[in-house]
Amino acid sequence: MLVLLGGSGYVGQAMQKRLTARGMKYHSIARAEIDYTNEASLRDYLRSVRPRYVLNAAGYTGRPNVDACEIHQAQCLAGNSVLPGIVRSACEELKIPWGHVSSGCIFTGDSENSSGFRECDTPNFTFRQDNCSFYSGCKALGEEVLAEAERCWIWRLRIPFNHIDSPRNYISKMLNYERLLDATNSLSHLDEFADACIECTEQEYEYGIWNLTNPGAVTTRRVIELAQKHGLSDKEFDFFESEAEFMQTAANTPRSNCVLDSSKAVAAGLSLSHVDDALEKAMKNWVSR
Ligand SMILES: NC(=O)c1ccc[n+]([C@@H]2O[C@H](COP(=O)([O-])OP(=O)(O)OC[C@H]3O[C@@H](n4cnc5c(N)ncnc54)[C@H](OP(=O)(O)O)[C@@H]3O)[C@@H](O)[C@H]2O)c1
Repeated sequence: MLVLLGGSGYVGQAMQKRLTARGMKYHSIARAEIDYTNEASLRDYLRSVRPRYVLNAAGYTGRPNVDACEIHQAQCLAGNSVLPGIVRSACEELKIPWGHVSSGCIFTGDSENSSGFRECDTPNFTFRQDNCSFYSGCKALGEEVLAEAERCWIWRLRIPFNHIDSPRNYISKMLNYERLLDATNSLSHLDEFADACIECTEQEYEYGIWNLTNPGAVTTRRVIELAQKHGLSDKEFDFFESEAEFMQTAANTPRSNCVLDSSKAVAAGLSLSHVDDALEKAMKNWVSR
């Protein structure tokens, strides 16, 4: 049996689906039921159920988007920076392996390595550089809190999408905006991400950081082009002239745009399809709301 934290969320629900599809036994716990944000409650609960491992898909992302984290700073800090430390303490004391859902948004811009930021690179979109959104700063702190953590996987997710139309799905988000910023990014197919996290634990992969993005990178224009090709929208899309115009008119806080190198995950055998194939697969099987 394993324990899932944050199973009610967008990422947590995808993990539940993949665990169920594999016939795996798990307990998904919500804060309202067992306050896992309190170290003693979490430890007592884990001691009573003794899971093989814990998956932490809990955190605060902001609604409708990351700008909300600038207002709800206490929740953002609690969910993304403090909670990982609490889960770490409880799991280390009980010697339970666990995985934490982190984010690729702690990087921005060009990497030295031509295929993107690697697991060994120091995050460059953080409070330490004083250039980031509150959300990215908190996610980076969350990884710092886990430095040298025992029996811990850190899984970096980046801009999730799949075939199900939802306000949380990147494809849906792009199709619903009136104007778009054209940027190049790595993306993560949510179901492939969830499967990769489960594989990491089941196959007892090396602990530490894993970039779980689909290989390759994609521009916003390419996503729209593919969506139109698959008949998801016939709208005319307008693009901002520049990032400066986007920041002035449509955003309250800087956005991370970056490419992550997922070759470590691919070389280890994790099944992550090329980003173009993953997008095409999602769009071909699109389920509208
Ligand atoms: N969605 C994305 O675009 C994205 C991208 C990269 C990384 N991530 C990371 O993936 C994780 C899950 O994200 P998500 O999109 O699934 O989030 P979500 O839909 O908002 O769900 C997160 C869940 O976390 C729990 N939680 C625990 N502490 C919280 C707090 N202080 N504030 C709010 N919720 C809290 C809640 O579950 P209960 O109350 O039921 O326990 C909530 O349902 C987060 O760590 C996030 O940073 C997300």
